Amino acid sequence: MSSAVVMQDVSFGYEARSPIIQIKDLQIEKGKRVFLHGSSGSGKSTLLGLISGVLLPQQGTCEVLGKELTQLSLSARDRHRGSEMGYIFQSFNLIPYLTVKENIGLPCRVHAKRRKRITAPNLDEEVERIARRLDIHDFLDRGVTRLSTGQQQRVAIARAVIGSPRLVIADEPTSALDTDRQERFLQLLLEVCDEARATLIFVSHDRSLMAHFDERISLADINQASASTSASQVRV
Ligand SMILES: Nc1ncnc2c1ncn2[C@@H]1O[C@H](COP(=O)(O)OP(=O)(O)OP(=O)(O)O)[C@@H](O)[C@H]1O
Ligand SMILES: [Mg+2]
Repeated sequence: MSSAVVMQDVSFGYEARSPIIQIKDLQIEKGKRVFLHGSSGSGKSTLLGLISGVLLPQQGTCEVLGKELTQLSLSARDRHRGSEMGYIFQSFNLIPYLTVKENIGLPCRVHAKRRKRITAPNLDEEVERIARRLDIHDFLDRGVTRLSTGQQQRVAIARAVIGSPRLVIADEPTSALDTDRQERFLQLLLEVCDEARATLIFVSHDRSLMAHFDERISLADINQASASTSASQVRV
């Protein structure tokens, strides 16, 4: 099984409204770095919600890392996501009342599978190792609200990759940054995903970042719910 994501005949709409996502066939191979782009409101975050199992399609199948999400209970989907996926949000969603160290270590405290995959002898040392790698080790005991935006981003990367999730999903994490900082952030993210051998799905509307990726997907090309697109089949 070499696919990280296999979506077939998927249809999804919020509440009873008309579908926002209609995808006939989307496959993402394990280990690929995928750039997903599309205009604002086109459904990128919605598609990520379906891949991570936060949302369930009304029709079709969505197999992610060998599990058919539509067959799993809510708690099994939450477990699958927490154990196997790292998520980086546009606004980072760090826990404001926890320190840098506590934020980074959180996925391993909540999910035994992530904890078992750490390479250091214990969690504290693993947090320290990753923090060093991302150059945020000097303020491990500081509250995350007392960090610069760039530092918070690196904490978000560390939290997403600790415990080697098999899939890392980043939803427009660079949109608030200038070009130089975007490039640096992306470079670091790509490096740590390579080290963890994780598949990366990176969402942005900024096409200047495309060149760094193995595959590029235009949501408009694969989503039949969007206006005037042709039916398509995408394998990456
Ligand atoms: N929770 C929700 N309930 C109802 N409609 C929603 C919800 N979330 C998103 N939508 C609608 O679904 C459509 C797709 O939204 P989505 O957030 O997936 O777009 P996006 O491509 O991620 O946009 P952006 O680039 O601005 O983040 C939009 O029309 C949006 O208004
Ligand atoms: Mg979005």
